[in-house]
Amino acid sequence: MILRTEGLTKIFELRPGKRVTAVDDLTFSVDEGEIFGFVGPNGAGKTTTIKMLMGLIFPTRGRAFIFDAPIPSEASKARIGYLPENPSYHEFLTGLGALRFFATLAGVPRRDRKKRCEELLGMVGLDGAADRQLRKYSKGMQQRLGIAQALVGDPAFVVLDEPMSGLDPIGRKEMRDIILELKRRGKTVFFSTHILPDVEALCDRVGVILGGELRDVGRIGDLLSPRVRSVELTAVAPGVAREALARGRLLTAEGDRLTVAFDDEGAADAAVRALVMASGRVVGLTRHRETLEDFFVRRLDETRVPDRGDGAQQKAG
Ligand SMILES: Nc1ncnc2c1ncn2[C@@H]1O[C@H](COP(=O)(O)OP(=O)(O)OP(=O)(O)O)[C@@H](O)[C@H]1O
Ligand SMILES: [Mg+2]
Repeated sequence: MILRTEGLTKIFELRPGKRVTAVDDLTFSVDEGEIFGFVGPNGAGKTTTIKMLMGLIFPTRGRAFIFDAPIPSEASKARIGYLPENPSYHEFLTGLGALRFFATLAGVPRRDRKKRCEELLGMVGLDGAADRQLRKYSKGMQQRLGIAQALVGDPAFVVLDEPMSGLDPIGRKEMRDIILELKRRGKTVFFSTHILPDVEALCDRVGVILGGELRDVGRIGDLLSPRVRSVELTAVAPGVAREALARGRLLTAEGDRLTVAFDDEGAADAAVRALVMASGRVVGLTRHRETLEDFFVRRLDETRVPDRGDGAQQKAG
């Protein structure tokens, strides 16, 4: 096990008598070699959790262990690469200069530094901007430098707070490839996000945090409902064959070509049979299962209590 938390809690005191439970009794673990997605909406408590794990702020209650050492541990930190939520670096350094500085801090031997930094700048697509000052970097370029910075010490455990933030579609794809490559090299990756397609594409397991509470942990396939939610049938249905589709909801109609949705598989199958009997033709049949986005919305709806306002603030305030 790379990471384990036990009842990790953070309460911020905004002013006397007004408190926010940002993270509430979090217990979960991350196994060696897995990609773990930490998913939750804005203000859910992701960054607060990560900051506690990195030793930047202290838990109000609870404990956490990284590489079996209680946090914060200098020995563990030497094996962790961390991308903060809003990285900002010394703006008069060049990209290469900044990365060499971080390589020095991370204890990369002097003889390896230049090669390691150049390789990483290539990996994050900054090789053309290595000699440009960071104040002239765009937001996405700064984010890319942050990723290179997180990896410069060849860490065994990589913690990324919103790695896709500020990246364009190509940058996001590259970031996904980098994360998968890290896994191939045997690293463990823990990253926070609210970009659900990235989670579905990358993660072995996810933890869902809502209002400071960990609501679900597990493999995506186990969390999503296996039930078919709807079936979409596109058919060429001339004249009488149209009746066969009458039990569904008409989505589109272009001449003889109709797309109809059914709420269960049985109804869709019966429609297909009737359609064929009436000399119609099936063009496409798509079964819709729950996506991570559906799951997320469902869990949010289940959590939402009328007239309570912000969940985090209410609990302690
Ligand atoms: N230093 C602080 N003082 C007071 N409250 C804080 C502090 N930091 C965070 N909070 C509160 O804790 C809660 C969780 O914030 P956090 O930054 O952890 O959320 P997040 O999940 O990272 O959200 P986002 O997706 O927007 O980055 C919020 O209600 C926030 O206002
Ligand atoms: Mg955050």
